[in-house]
Amino acid sequence: MDYTTLGKTGLKVSVAGLGCGGPSRLGMRGDAASENHAVRLIKQALDLGVNFLDTAESYATEGIVGKAVAGLPRDRVVISTKKTLPTPDQANPEAEIVKGLEQSLKLLGTDYIDVYHLHGVEPKDYKFAQNRLMAPMRRLKEQGKIRFIGVTEGFVVDTSHTMLQDSLKKDLWDVVMVGFNLLNPSARKAVFPLTVKNGVGVLDMFAVRRALSQPKRLKEICAELVAKGALAKDSVDLNDPLGFLFKETDAATLPEAAYRFCRHERGVDVVLTGTGNPEHLKENIRAILKPPLPKAALEKLESLFGGLDNLTGN
Ligand SMILES: NC(=O)c1ccc[n+]([C@@H]2O[C@H](COP(=O)([O-])OP(=O)(O)OC[C@H]3O[C@@H](n4cnc5c(N)ncnc54)[C@H](OP(=O)(O)O)[C@@H]3O)[C@@H](O)[C@H]2O)c1
Repeated sequence: MDYTTLGKTGLKVSVAGLGCGGPSRLGMRGDAASENHAVRLIKQALDLGVNFLDTAESYATEGIVGKAVAGLPRDRVVISTKKTLPTPDQANPEAEIVKGLEQSLKLLGTDYIDVYHLHGVEPKDYKFAQNRLMAPMRRLKEQGKIRFIGVTEGFVVDTSHTMLQDSLKKDLWDVVMVGFNLLNPSARKAVFPLTVKNGVGVLDMFAVRRALSQPKRLKEICAELVAKGALAKDSVDLNDPLGFLFKETDAATLPEAAYRFCRHERGVDVVLTGTGNPEHLKENIRAILKPPLPKAALEKLESLFGGLDNLTGN
């Protein structure tokens, strides 16, 4: 495993982080795999050198993370979890933050969270988050119950990173979680210059998602882009839109190319990988540890998708 420093937090983190949510939820989405399977998957990640685990109140995997790390020295893992936003009409949204944190601590079996995020802050939530939720977050930090304050963007509705662009002008976050992948690399211009300048740690989500793990979905998305005029018709082979990557690089699979693309982006500290499949986990960590894709392939990706900021790749 390779390790890096998560911005100004100073935390030493593995460049591959295990995402315990997303479409897989450690394999527990849909036809749920057993909790034991999920615990084993986390332990496998730890054995492979991962020390960054990302979960959330809303994933219902905090208890599983708690079981997987029970008995380990607390500083062996960096735990990132998230509070679902209370709504502004709740009588006491500040108290909801504290209540959520206490519940997370209990499920995770710890007395502090390394990075505690406000989860999925959309542009419409930003003022509320800033005016009402930052004060309790800061108090929890002062009390030592959380070490660092994070935010995750609502990438599905905010594919061009409006909330982060606004909020990164202020000194609110120690860490941010950003949607960034080879189909929508817009964070490169919109977010990373600000995070690098201010020493804010960056966690990358949506590296692969559906479009970069399911060839059928990739074809659909590229066909939609051509229909909208966002991709020139003669610029891609709609039967195999990213086929050129396998001729021009040593990447063996699309997820491999997609994770490598993210891993070597300047400004990305941790690439989160979400999977329920032990073989995928092994492959993905191997991919994240491989060298960058060759320059020519990166330039071709840039010419195709470099200007896009209106899709998630889901
Ligand atoms: N707003 C937020 O706060 C937010 C939103 C989204 C995600 N997240 C965080 O980010 C983490 C990563 O999520 P993500 O959805 O962005 O993960 P991702 O790693 O980009 O994509 C996960 C999807 O790709 C598939 N996949 C992974 N490796 C594969 C491989 N080698 N071959 C084929 N398919 C593969 C997985 O299915 P298999 O299970 O079959 O491998 C799953 O469907 C989440 O777990 C969560 O912690 C946060």
